This record gives sequence, structure tokens and C-alpha cells, in this order.
Amino acid sequence: MHEKSKPVPFVGGVFGVEPAVVSSSKTSPVWEREFSIFSASARSSIFTLFSYFALIDKKVWLPRYVCSEVRYAAKKSQVRTDFYSVNKNLELEDSLFEQKLDAGDVVFLVDYFGLGISLNLIQSLKSRGAVIVRDLAQNFYFGLNQESFNEDFLIYSPRKFFGIPDGGILVSFMEEVNSFLRKVDYLENTEASDLMLKAQRGRTAFDTDGNQSDWFSLFKQAEERVPCGHFQISQYSLDLLRKSKGFPAYATDRIRNFNILNDILGEWAIPIKLGEEINGPLGVPILVQNRNFVCNELYKKNIYPAIHWKIDDKNHDLSHIELFLSEHIMTIPCDHRLDSDGARWLGTQVYSALQGEK
Ligand SMILES: Cc1ncc(COP(=O)(O)O)c(C=O)c1O
Repeated sequence: MHEKSKPVPFVGGVFGVEPAVVSSSKTSPVWEREFSIFSASARSSIFTLFSYFALIDKKVWLPRYVCSEVRYAAKKSQVRTDFYSVNKNLELEDSLFEQKLDAGDVVFLVDYFGLGISLNLIQSLKSRGAVIVRDLAQNFYFGLNQESFNEDFLIYSPRKFFGIPDGGILVSFMEEVNSFLRKVDYLENTEASDLMLKAQRGRTAFDTDGNQSDWFSLFKQAEERVPCGHFQISQYSLDLLRKSKGFPAYATDRIRNFNILNDILGEWAIPIKLGEEINGPLGVPILVQNRNFVCNELYKKNIYPAIHWKIDDKNHDLSHIELFLSEHIMTIPCDHRLDSDGARWLGTQVYSALQGEK
């Protein structure tokens, strides 16, 4: 264990504001090259896409193991849905689903924790006529400079990866859907993004001079107000997305921190088999016996891991493994605010908390 690494003042939570630096990258990201819509949130992008599928009466297959925001977007769009299961390594391995999948059905694949999706799975679903939506809310760096894709749609949520107050990006490779997407009347709703920007400014002041503002409560209020509908991104966020330099650098930091944390916490980490190289993951998902205990130990050190996801929708039929995941999972962040010393310190703190629960 590396006990000597320096402590980090506060781990997790909203990102501070980003410096607006003009991009030095030669290649523009996929959403600048392909047909894309820029929504207020990923759930809004999902809602808009699913509204199209509802209109042409397509069935969408969702994983049972997914956040309530995705299920809500599907419900609100009134699209026909069915559900498939994942195994304890978060892989789709559901023979019932395979029997029931019809050509033309839409399969919604979540890139859990930004740890990739097996190419074989995508190709085998495609060969059976499935339309693939890849939810990259947890894998922002996937495909930014890639030229060709097996998926039909990509969905991004930049807010989870750096300091941008709102935004969801839908990239579409299906021309017949694009004419629908072009015609939608996208509305403005900046309530959440205005609050989020205040929270981010507060967080920057906290990170730079320890200024104790109410950034955490503003962040919670903003998250509660993230809209789901035909809502467009704020101009502030669109400009930032277009100018931002930092994507690849931040991705490298994430990969380094992920590897440091995974080395320390491997015993508890979900052994997701990487289908492809990692691009810049969301965090290290671990399974703990007594999550309340571990969280409380970490809160004492100002470490706030996220939980993806507590699924408490009583109407949602969860199989044994998904319920187990939902009750025992937590995500150790590996973002660019941690340098390698910070990541080692964080790993050590989590390791000690996990020793305590034994
Ligand atoms: C896998 C996944 N997809 C989509 C979303 C929705 O993202 P957003 O908060 O940008 O609407 C989330 C988070 O809520 C998520 O975890």
C-alpha cells in the first residue's frame, strides 16, 4: 500500500468550471463530423430518439440494469419496450432475449462505467438485424476520433466527465431518422444549467481557496431539474464543447487513475472483461458487502463515490443478480482532478474502509 500519497481535499461531486481554451486537436470529434443533435441532457437525447421509434412502432430492448432516467425517458416517449438481463460482470448473456429478438428491434446497450462493449456482441446483434443504440453516458471518450462505427446511434453525456453545465449528444448514422430529428422543435430550458453553472463556479472557488459556498446543494438542485424532453443544450455549453481542448488529456488521466485504483482494489472490482481498449472510464465499480458502512467511512474523509445505480423502482422486475448489483455496487471516481498521488491516496482510503467491513 502507498500510505504516503498526499490527501485530496474532496473527491467526487460536481466539476469546477472549465477554462475555455480553443482546441488544438486536428481531428474534430464524431459529433462535428456526423449528423448530431445537441440536447439539454442525455435523457433528452434518448427521449427524442425513442419518440421516433414510438412513431414507427419499433420495439426497444433496455437492460434491466440501468438508471431510472433512461427508463423514464423511455416511458415518457411511449415507445414499446422489453427488457434483457446482464450477468454479474455486466455482460449481456440472456438466452431468453436472444430467442425473442426480432430483426428490426432496437437494442439499447449501456457502456457500463466506460469499460467498453464486446465487438462480437455488437456484430452478432447487427447480423440478426438489430438497430444498435450505444449509451456512452459513462464513456465520453469513446469514438471521438474514430472513423467508422458498428452502432447506429451514439449518446453522450459530457457533464459526467468535465465541467460543463448541461448537454446530451445524439449522433445518428441512420439517414431515415435524421429527417425526423431535423424537424423536431427543440425548446430552451436553462433552469438546470444555470444552477449547475453556479454550482460549478462554487466548486472552483472551493477547490482553489477552500471557499465554503453552497455548491453541493446547488449541484443537487440542478441535478433534480435536469429536463427530459425535446430540450436543446444551452449556448454556453455548446460553445464550451466546441472550444474545449482538454478531452484527450483528461482521458489519459482517467486511464492512469483507473489502473492505479484497479491495482489496489482489484479484489473488489467487478471483473468486466474489456471488449476493447479503455478510452477514459467513469470510475472503478466495486462490490461491497456493507455499503452504508463503507460510504460512511469514506464520507469522513470527504470522499463521495457515486452509486450506479440504486434501483428502487418497485414496479421494475429485477432478477436476482441485478438486484444484488444494485444493492452492493459503488463507483470509485478516477477523474482528472486526481493526480497519480491522489489516486493512490484514494485507493488506500477505500482499501482501509473495505478492510473495516470484513
Ligand atoms: C447510462 C446512463 N444513460 C443516460 C443517463 C442520462 O444522462 P443525463 O443525466 O445527461 O440525462 C445516465 C444518467 O443519468 C446514465 O447513467
